[in-house]
Parts: sequence; structure tokens; C-alpha cells
Amino acid sequence: MNAAPKPMTVPELAEAKQNGRKLVMLTAYDAGFARTLDANGTDILLVGDSLGMVVQGADSTLPVTVADIVYHTRCVASATHRALVLSDLPFQADATPERALDAATALLQAGAGMVKLEGAGHKLQTIRFLVEREIPVCGHLGLTPQSVLRFGGYKVQGRGEAAADRLLADARAVAEAGAAMLVLECVPSSLAAEITAAIDIPTIGIGAGPGCDGQVLVLHDMLGLDSGHRRPRFVKDFLGEGGSVAGAVRAYAEAVRSGAFPDEEHSYA
Ligand code: KIV
Repeated sequence: MNAAPKPMTVPELAEAKQNGRKLVMLTAYDAGFARTLDANGTDILLVGDSLGMVVQGADSTLPVTVADIVYHTRCVASATHRALVLSDLPFQADATPERALDAATALLQAGAGMVKLEGAGHKLQTIRFLVEREIPVCGHLGLTPQSVLRFGGYKVQGRGEAAADRLLADARAVAEAGAAMLVLECVPSSLAAEITAAIDIPTIGIGAGPGCDGQVLVLHDMLGLDSGHRRPRFVKDFLGEGGSVAGAVRAYAEAVRSGAFPDEEHSYA
């Protein structure tokens, strides 16, 4: 009889970085896909607020609510045995530490093992507040989609010396506040590699080049589905080479672990 798979734990994230083992993350929103991702080499399943765009058909992540993420977290967690389930705090759920604690508690009670929140600045206090209350936190810097109105669109962040210095300082501050992992979205590869070397916690890149400690893609993007939005440069369709959903997930996991993905074509200089 096969032993039950051992679930991925938060301390294992830091161990992976220390051992140079790349982390494989994909978004998941329902039990059917979660089961396939979990069984085919994905370390972390992200119940991302990207569900607002790829599941609900909205133009941004801003309409997503805590109740939406709780519902999808429960769906994903019900079919996940090995991967760590990471759930997003949606727009304004982290506006104050107290609101964030309520939302994060609901997400952990729905089956998440960690929550993700965007930004630094006043969010550092919220990260500390959650971590002190036994809630593992993942940060998210660079192109933070909840800031789309301020950014004026979905644009590469951290270009130019001042912006790069700011991003590096924010990454250090997020790690010092107690985050156990950091997503870097749409930043030049060289800057993401510099941040990765400067902090002890693993970085997970999306459009951040091969120098990160792991990678994440939105599931619909890596399966080549038309999201109704412009396809970003960092997206690669793995369904062609994989031949099936399970094959695509295995191909992606292998490419991330070997360092073959992302290559230059799928990164920003
Ligand atoms: O919501 C999401 O899917 C995300 C990823 C793009 C990192 O935050």
C-alpha cells in the first residue's frame, strides 16, 4: 500500500531555498483542477484573486470579495493532499490589521495554509500583526494587480535605479516583517535575482526571470485559454508539449525545476 503523501509545510519553503530546490506554484480555483495539479508536481496551489478575471470575467481583481476566496479555497483544499494551499487577501481585506486578521482566519478555516497580501508601506504592520497571531504570510511586490488604478495599467515595475532601490528595500522590509515567501510580479530579471540573493525567504516569480526561487503562472494562461485580455510576455502555453492537462502541469513543473522556464523570451530585461 502506498503511504499517504506528506503535505508541504511552511518551514519546507525556507528549506527548499537553502537546498536550491525550485518551488513550483500554479493558481487553482476548483477541486477538479486542484486534484490534477496536486498529483502532478505542484508544490503550492494559489487561490489567487486573479479568479476575478479568469473565472468571474471581470476586468481586474478589484471586485473579488473575501467570501469569493473562502469559497474557492474550500473547493481547492478539499482535493489537495500534498501541496500547500495559499489564498489571496482580496482588495481592501488587508486595509487594516484587524480586517486582515478576520479575513485570514476565514481563509485558514476554509483550508488555506498561508495567505498572500500585496504591497509594503502600511502593509508591513499587517504582516507583523498576522505573523504574531500564527498566520503564515506571503508578500507580493512589483506589479501588484490591486494597485492597477494607481499604476494606470499592468506595467513592468522596478525599472530605473530609484524604482529598483525602492523595490529592493520593500522586499527586505517584507521579509523582516515576518513573511515566509515573496511573490515578485513583472520585474526585470536582474532585479528579481538581486532581491532573491538579498533575502532569506523564497521568492516566486511571475514575469520576474529565472533567478527566483520558484515560479507561478495563472492556470488558464499555462493551458493556453483565451482570458479575454492581452497575453503578457511571460506566459507560456504548456498544453501543446504536455498533451493533456496533467501532462502540461508535469511539463511546467519539470521546466521550473530544471531552470528551463522562464527563458529570456518569457522574461523582462
Ligand atoms: O491572483 C493571482 O493569481 C496572483 C498571481 C498572479 C501571482 O496573485
